[in-house]
Amino acid sequence: MEKVKELVFATNNAHKLAEARAIAGDRFRIVSLAEIGCHDDIPETSDTLAGNALQKARWVRDHYGCDCFADDTGLMVDALDGAPGVMSARYAGPGHDSSANMARLLRELEGADNRHAHFTTVIALCLDGEEHLFEGRVDGTIARTPSGNSGFGYDPIFIADETGVSFADMTPEAKNSISHRGRAMAALGKYLCGE
Ligand code: IMP
Repeated sequence: MEKVKELVFATNNAHKLAEARAIAGDRFRIVSLAEIGCHDDIPETSDTLAGNALQKARWVRDHYGCDCFADDTGLMVDALDGAPGVMSARYAGPGHDSSANMARLLRELEGADNRHAHFTTVIALCLDGEEHLFEGRVDGTIARTPSGNSGFGYDPIFIADETGVSFADMTPEAKNSISHRGRAMAALGKYLCGE
């Protein structure tokens, strides 16, 4: 019987791993960084999402000899010329505090009428000596005040066009079905599994 192919997902985020495993089913075995003994602080120094995703996936391929994929996400706000973008995780400075990041974004948008924004996720895949990129995007607006307790990051202030409520007011399943990351993961799954 043919051995199931193993693919490292360059993350230790349990939520992301569960999502990837659901998509891969039993056709690919998705393993985390911890499972291959990788505890490296993998550099993310590019000024593009694709550059960072590729940097992480290549790191695992080059240092551990594994097929691998990695993701990177940004929130792009039109009125701020695409900021926070690739800086989304540390918009309020180092420390990665979501409340501080949201507070800064709401401050920057004070008085702004154009509140249109989108999330984009880029996934980089290094497989069998080749590199591939997959992208997912969701459009919406930045609320004037946070709402909801679900999710993480900017979810309480991101209102998806498709639903009219914040990501933090949606169930995880409903969010995943329209989210940037859900769509990028679906594109990866389609490539890997041909669905
Ligand atoms: P990462 O590349 O998945 O680590 O995402 C970078 C940053 O974007 C995170 O630290 C969050 O601030 C933000 N972000 C990514 N995905 C989401 C999401 O689904 N909802 C809200 N914020 C997100």
